[in-house]
Amino acid sequence: MYLSCTLTTFSDSRLRTTIPPQEIEYQRRRRATFTHIDSSNADIRFVDPRRSQEPAPPSKATTITVSVPSRLTGLSLGQFLPVLALILALIVQFFVPVYRRFNYQDQALRPVREAVCPSTPFEPPTCLPPPALAPQELHTFDSLSSRNMALAEAAQKVAKEFDYTTAQLNEAVEEFLREMDEGLAQDGTSLSQIPTYVTAVPNGTEKGLYMSVDLGGTNFRVCSIQLHGNTTFSLTQSKVKIPTEIMTAATAEELFAFLAKQIQLFLKEHHTEHYEGHMERIATGSTEKGYREQEIFSLGFTFSFPVHQIGINKGLLMRWTKGFDIADAIGRDVCGLLQTEIDKLDLPVRVAALVNDTVGTLMARSYTSPGKTGTLVGAIFGTGTNGAYVEKLARVTKLVARKENAEVGAYDASTGEMVVNTEWGSFDNALAVLPNTPYDAALDAESVNPGIQMFEKRVSGMFLGEVLRRAIVALLQTNEVPLFKDENSSLNELHSTTQVGRDSPLFARWGLDSSFLSVAHGDASPGLRITRQALDRDLGVSAASVEDAEAIKVMAAAVGRRAARLSAVALGAIVLESGRLDTVTGDEEADVVDIGVDGSLVEFYPGFEDYIREALREINGIGPAGEKRIRIGIAKDGSGVGAALSALVAGKQNLAK
Ligand code: GLC
Repeated sequence: MYLSCTLTTFSDSRLRTTIPPQEIEYQRRRRATFTHIDSSNADIRFVDPRRSQEPAPPSKATTITVSVPSRLTGLSLGQFLPVLALILALIVQFFVPVYRRFNYQDQALRPVREAVCPSTPFEPPTCLPPPALAPQELHTFDSLSSRNMALAEAAQKVAKEFDYTTAQLNEAVEEFLREMDEGLAQDGTSLSQIPTYVTAVPNGTEKGLYMSVDLGGTNFRVCSIQLHGNTTFSLTQSKVKIPTEIMTAATAEELFAFLAKQIQLFLKEHHTEHYEGHMERIATGSTEKGYREQEIFSLGFTFSFPVHQIGINKGLLMRWTKGFDIADAIGRDVCGLLQTEIDKLDLPVRVAALVNDTVGTLMARSYTSPGKTGTLVGAIFGTGTNGAYVEKLARVTKLVARKENAEVGAYDASTGEMVVNTEWGSFDNALAVLPNTPYDAALDAESVNPGIQMFEKRVSGMFLGEVLRRAIVALLQTNEVPLFKDENSSLNELHSTTQVGRDSPLFARWGLDSSFLSVAHGDASPGLRITRQALDRDLGVSAASVEDAEAIKVMAAAVGRRAARLSAVALGAIVLESGRLDTVTGDEEADVVDIGVDGSLVEFYPGFEDYIREALREINGIGPAGEKRIRIGIAKDGSGVGAALSALVAGKQNLAK
């Protein structure tokens, strides 16, 4: 702990007083923060080591140093007395909490409260006035507990708004099934049901060296993958964060030139010989042996945005999601755009397959999953959410219509199946069955794509933090709810007042990261210490009480549970539609319905899969028996391997140009 006391206008001679170690320890626990005492022009701060860059000094007696101005030296006693009185007042201020510790019902010092000013357009009010300080009253255990009950009730009430009942669940499954059918028959529907031209899933015996790149959210990944043919692989990868200005660049060229540059850097670093050999051949023009195919990497391009796919390596961008916004790219072939930039750099790479991350996940899971059953679904629950599944080719009727218009690329129809990318993020954009709390509605209205990706806005990691943040702010703005309002330090077992910083991320749109939900929901620490630390560190809420943290935890759990139950709607509907639960062979392994999943939410949100399973059991036609047959397995970073596998499949079918 670092303890300092300065009288800001003073500079010279010093008065010293020594604080005993027990007091330092006590102050460390209470994490006191005294803010300005302006009138005295003095500033006393107890800096929490977790918030300070300075190393904590050894835990021995600490000295408060008070400087006395040189111009006061030699002053008369009468002139010096006010200064002395001020110093004494400061010291008394420091020891009062110690005294209060032993006198619970004593009057607390009234803390200085700042106005709470949201920086986002929350109306009304945009700027909360400092909460009126209660008259100095005696706080009894009774008044405390009724206060805490009020907070707990308010949090439960918000949590209730996120309930998604069994009846709602089943209604949504019906609607999902209807939209699946609709999307297979025609274009321009809510569920896009995009045919991917992938007509076979791997079985684990595939071999070879392939490349893949993955553009789908905050990062761009470049990988090379050695498939060993025994369900295992080796992967080399590099990852770079996509600069925000590239996500909203003026031209598509800027984005794709950036991607090609990353591929070049990767080849230089990880396939140096291959790259240099290729560049040398180009430089010397030595083409005697011709342009040898095998020297060119086949690359699977994971592009996790809705694309109107018209061939295994051809797809027109339908719309951006997840914060990307480059109007110039809409309607253009993303493989062509990438290949052009790759060619400008003379790289030995050919874009062989275009895959959505869900398709990649499905392929990767199928390659690595145990047993003989091919995987049915590949799903992402991360920044965005979506799923791809294996559909009977005959049901993809819109392909026939497209064929008539010569809008369809080649595919191998012999398997009788095709992987379909549902783009379920856009399920029920009309909000026929999706829940719609005031927080969901406000989030949507202020998003870059109002009315679109309505399912995703209730399920995926990009949005859950924001939904919770809005729920928290709504409570904060309700005067009678005592959230973060321990303005009297006797109300808080930290013996400090709770402060919400003026510039707290709570008041900024997207200020609350979804990972906070996982932290709060999973917090089993005594006194919810972990959540309170996160509130302090990430959200600028200092000295939150246990009850505050409990309220936040209840709301975080509700937002997460609803997301998982909605996820079950999508998964459950696809399982039902596949008919795989209709037959039972008695062979446990053969009866498994396999689902591959990836994404931070499913990986890190505590109990996400359990909630999904709980909801699956409630779905008519699945029930507890069906749920038992569903195996959900993580396909970690599956999209990279999956894209490579798609490039392999494309090569085998000799479809890629
Ligand atoms: C968004 C994209 C979709 C992708 C999903 C998961 O929903 O539109 O293509 O699969 O995010 O990354």
